[in-house]
Amino acid sequence: MSMDRYYLLGRSGLRVSPLSLGTMTFGKDGPYGGAWGSTDATSRALFDRYLEAGGNFIDTADYYTAGTSETLLGKFIEERGVRDRVVLASKYSYNSTTPGDPNAGGNGRKNMMRAVEASLRRLRTDYIDLYLLHTWDRITPAEEVVRTFDDLVRAGKIRYAGLSDVPAWYAARAQTWAEAHALTPIINLQLQYSLVERSLEPEFVPLAQTLGMGITAWSPLGMGLLSGRYKPSEGRPQGEGRLTSAVGGEHLGLFNERNWGLVATLEKVAKELGRDMSQVALNWVAAQPGVGSVIIGASSLKQLDGNLAALDFTIPAGLRQQLEEVSAPAVPFPHGMFSNPYQLNMHGNAAVGDKPAGYTSPVFTGLAPTVG
Ligand SMILES: NC(=O)c1ccc[n+]([C@@H]2O[C@H](COP(=O)([O-])OP(=O)(O)OC[C@H]3O[C@@H](n4cnc5c(N)ncnc54)[C@H](OP(=O)(O)O)[C@@H]3O)[C@@H](O)[C@H]2O)c1
Repeated sequence: MSMDRYYLLGRSGLRVSPLSLGTMTFGKDGPYGGAWGSTDATSRALFDRYLEAGGNFIDTADYYTAGTSETLLGKFIEERGVRDRVVLASKYSYNSTTPGDPNAGGNGRKNMMRAVEASLRRLRTDYIDLYLLHTWDRITPAEEVVRTFDDLVRAGKIRYAGLSDVPAWYAARAQTWAEAHALTPIINLQLQYSLVERSLEPEFVPLAQTLGMGITAWSPLGMGLLSGRYKPSEGRPQGEGRLTSAVGGEHLGLFNERNWGLVATLEKVAKELGRDMSQVALNWVAAQPGVGSVIIGASSLKQLDGNLAALDFTIPAGLRQQLEEVSAPAVPFPHGMFSNPYQLNMHGNAAVGDKPAGYTSPVFTGLAPTVG
């Protein structure tokens, strides 16, 4: 895997880089932008470097830095004249402009139509390549979201549709509805995925593989926890960084015993490989089943350069196993019942290792019952 190769996103003809550029930290507006955001000059330098490295896949949202991320991207893309070359992804859901108006937020048709127009203006373009619902609002039917995505595709305002941060059942309903009614399909699930956060594995990975949705992994370094900046061997986290900010690691609940154990193992594995911890953590996610692209974040060119070199090596199986053991997620019900002895009993003690591919999640260790 390297940056001069492009991969298909889900069951579609859209080709994207295996590392996507995250721009949640472009600009200093909004509550998080104030604490974590990059200046306009740094944002531009990161954007330029990513394109020079061959990257084509850029992620933003109307919510990021209160619209400034989109505004900066629109300017950078226009000034470099690369609108057709880049695959531009943006998202809607949040009401960051009109407090008190319930229809200026959420996932309903009225807000999606309003939000896409506002994003197009900020991005200085007449189409968005990949448009995503940002977060489930617990209200809007999946059918309404899919129908509106389809209308936006037909109107030429978006090219493809995706979902971020929704329950698996909701994504399955949306995709099934789209297929049944020949509406534009959901080609992408954007979800948090890293050695810190693996709870998507039992449901979302098989869902994505079965229904043709490529996963894009957000916060692949656990918001920086796996970056090498925070090491238990060096005592309490110090220095300037996202996780040491007021809305950082303590606030996000990331500084805990389980995570420090994981960071210690990552440090050891990275040392054995002669690689940066961040590179090993990114490489691990990029090679996980179902993952179409990893959305990287960086606050400096040095960080970005390191991250862009994260795919030119392979983590040997033994070292992968060490990382997976220390980061193993809990097995949620009913997944414990999909392993032995239940499977053996169900199949009359015949071998079940020969089930058709795709029957079970290959990544989920609770589902790996090979029997003699
Ligand atoms: N759909 C969603 O709900 C959602 C949510 C969150 C993010 N996202 C997307 O995912 C993108 C990436 O998320 P993220 O920024 O949280 O990713 P991340 O990779 O988990 O964290 C990136 C941060 O880690 C630190 N870092 C990165 N590379 C480093 C290196 N080589 N050495 C040292 N430190 C390094 C930097 O933090 P410092 O500032 O401390 O230097 C950087 O800002 C976002 O920009 C956004 O596009 C989507």
